Amino acid sequence: MSIIFMEQDKIFTLHTKDATYQMKVDRFGFLLHLYYGRRTGGTMDYLLQFADRGFSGNPNDVGDDRTYSMDALPQELPCQGTGDYRSPAVIIKNADGSYGCDFRYKSHRISKGKYKIPGLPAVYAGEDEADTLEIDLEDPVTKVKITLLYGVIADLNIITRSARIQNGGREKIYLKKAQAACLDFINGEYDLICFYGRHAMERNMQRTPAVHGAQIIESRRGTSSHQYNPMMILAGRETTEDAGSCYAMSFVYSGSFKGEVEKDQYNQTRMLLGLSDELFSYPLSEGEVFHVPEVVFTYSGCGLAKLSQNLHVCFRTHLCRGKYQTSVRPILLNSWEAAYFDFDGDSIYRLAKEAAELGVEMLVLDDGWFGKRYDDNRGLGDWYVNEKKLGEPLSSLIQKINDLGLKFGIWFEPESVNEDSDLFREHPDWALAIPGRRPVRGRNQLVLDFSRKEVVDYLFKEICKVLDQGNIEYVKFDMNRSLSDCYSHDTNDQGKVYYDYMIGLYDFLERLVQRYPNLLLEGCSGGGGRFDAGMLYYSPQIWCSDNTDALDRISIQYGTSFGYPVSAVGSHVSAVPNHQTGRITPFYTRGVIAMAGTFGYELDPKQLSEEEKLELKEQISEYKRYAPLIQNGLYYRLTNPFEEEVGAWAFVSEDGKEALLNAVVLKVHGNMIVNYVRLKGLTRHCMYREEKSGMLYASDALMEAGIPLPVQMGDYQAYQMHFVRADQD
Ligand code: GLA
Repeated sequence: MSIIFMEQDKIFTLHTKDATYQMKVDRFGFLLHLYYGRRTGGTMDYLLQFADRGFSGNPNDVGDDRTYSMDALPQELPCQGTGDYRSPAVIIKNADGSYGCDFRYKSHRISKGKYKIPGLPAVYAGEDEADTLEIDLEDPVTKVKITLLYGVIADLNIITRSARIQNGGREKIYLKKAQAACLDFINGEYDLICFYGRHAMERNMQRTPAVHGAQIIESRRGTSSHQYNPMMILAGRETTEDAGSCYAMSFVYSGSFKGEVEKDQYNQTRMLLGLSDELFSYPLSEGEVFHVPEVVFTYSGCGLAKLSQNLHVCFRTHLCRGKYQTSVRPILLNSWEAAYFDFDGDSIYRLAKEAAELGVEMLVLDDGWFGKRYDDNRGLGDWYVNEKKLGEPLSSLIQKINDLGLKFGIWFEPESVNEDSDLFREHPDWALAIPGRRPVRGRNQLVLDFSRKEVVDYLFKEICKVLDQGNIEYVKFDMNRSLSDCYSHDTNDQGKVYYDYMIGLYDFLERLVQRYPNLLLEGCSGGGGRFDAGMLYYSPQIWCSDNTDALDRISIQYGTSFGYPVSAVGSHVSAVPNHQTGRITPFYTRGVIAMAGTFGYELDPKQLSEEEKLELKEQISEYKRYAPLIQNGLYYRLTNPFEEEVGAWAFVSEDGKEALLNAVVLKVHGNMIVNYVRLKGLTRHCMYREEKSGMLYASDALMEAGIPLPVQMGDYQAYQMHFVRADQD
């Protein structure tokens, strides 16, 4: 059992393979945090120090003990109203209009297996893989109950946390803030690592010192957003890829979120992650329960590479589901950058035929096949096949494509509607809009009110009708704008709409994966605007960015790799000049970079030269050779492309028997210096053979001195080297 309760000291200890998490119910019933870090034994309540703290409030029941203040103590669930003036995890507006709350320990349960959260995505685990701790806290005045849920997957070094909030009182209350996770660090100097961006330039890595004051990352957009990713890392100032302590929090939720890091007056650091409190005011009537989506924690005592690998393995094996969870995905060709809206059935068939001849395994028909969707100003919501445009029924097109030996996939954007659509003309109130105000448009479209069951039911029915027309094996599930005009006709409490929207969306997705268990879903939101752990529960891959420029992709994929496995990263080779940047990069380089993901193409093969076609065939066979290693191997960042002149990464099999090194020279100069890339993760004191050259290298030399990259003319040259441990020769 990874969870231990010491009755006498009222201390809970959670052990993973390499980490320990400890907390204590103190003499007043407050649940105090003691420790999270490298695995250790013993009890750590000696760490709690008490001193008379001027201007820091004391709970009334501590009597005249002025040394006891929630403003200074590390807590599991800091809430508004206890005299803690730091950022709280929970704020509740009580029936009398007051904001006081005061949660004290009532009881707890320890059980085998991992808890589930009704209606929400969550990490899952077998009975023997995980343990669950539930701690019930209650406010003695209002009778509101909060049950903190901790899931421990010891072998994966993963701890999850969620909360269940129940109104045990008679009258309606409002949840004003609900963070799933809080980590209080009583000492230490930290850096905050977070991932910011914009459409077509997502998840740039930013590392800044956590200083006095609060640093906040947030999405108010109703989706997890391009702008900030719902995942954050707190790392020791000296922590590198290979050494030092670091902590990650990742939110298993795809809507608005808030992450906070606050260094307080006593140099303590608080890290919080959960729901955004903006536009959030969730009503709970007598007995009603609210489920806070979960946060995944992991700790590494040996640097950021291991921290990321912990998340990669957890998400790949205990969050993603379905037929394609760990299997290699089909190599696809997507029609978007090949044709945009300019296609008919014949041209799609021609695209498929050429793709099949080159070795591609699936044709994806992107936007433009339905309703009157001749451009991106109309048609969303009308999920019936535009047979006039295709010139044939969808079923016959699919059949013809299948006959070429290709799978067939299709694009949907269920949550959006154009005002110029039959659906909107029939149900204008189904779009989010505030009565009397004209709604904000994004890409000339509105958002459907997924907090309403009838809306979700209708769309599900219509989309199933399309999916049932033929052998559709893949769906690109898109969402191309932020939510706005938070107003639903179904409720008077508009502060619940964004959360209920997500519950509606997850319900839709769950129904889809249950009804079509063999369907491969790829999440998408203008590329990577909803790239989060919540979506990975339904779709094992997500289109990483609308930016297919190889060079930009190096940094986008670098940032993404901190929190998400390569098996989740949708990545394709596209044409040059690139459609987003105008940059020209070598075909080979584009291939190497797209191989750090679920590989595919986003181009019209007809535009390729014969030489490029040969290269493409070669690329496909290379990818297929390496795909299991890429998808399931351990991922190492070898350089930081934001700071270095080479972008480099490697996949190393878990048993250390093989490694695939990938490197791209980002800048070429006159009289070029030699760039050396140091490998990571090889088995020490072994010889490795590089397959193409046949050269033998000592693993320690490869990791300490590195391997020189050839000096070559021309920008953006890429190199891929496959090393096999020589004991297998
Ligand atoms: C979004 C997606 C693209 C493409 C278009 C279609 O921008 O990210 O890949 O599917 O929509 O409109």
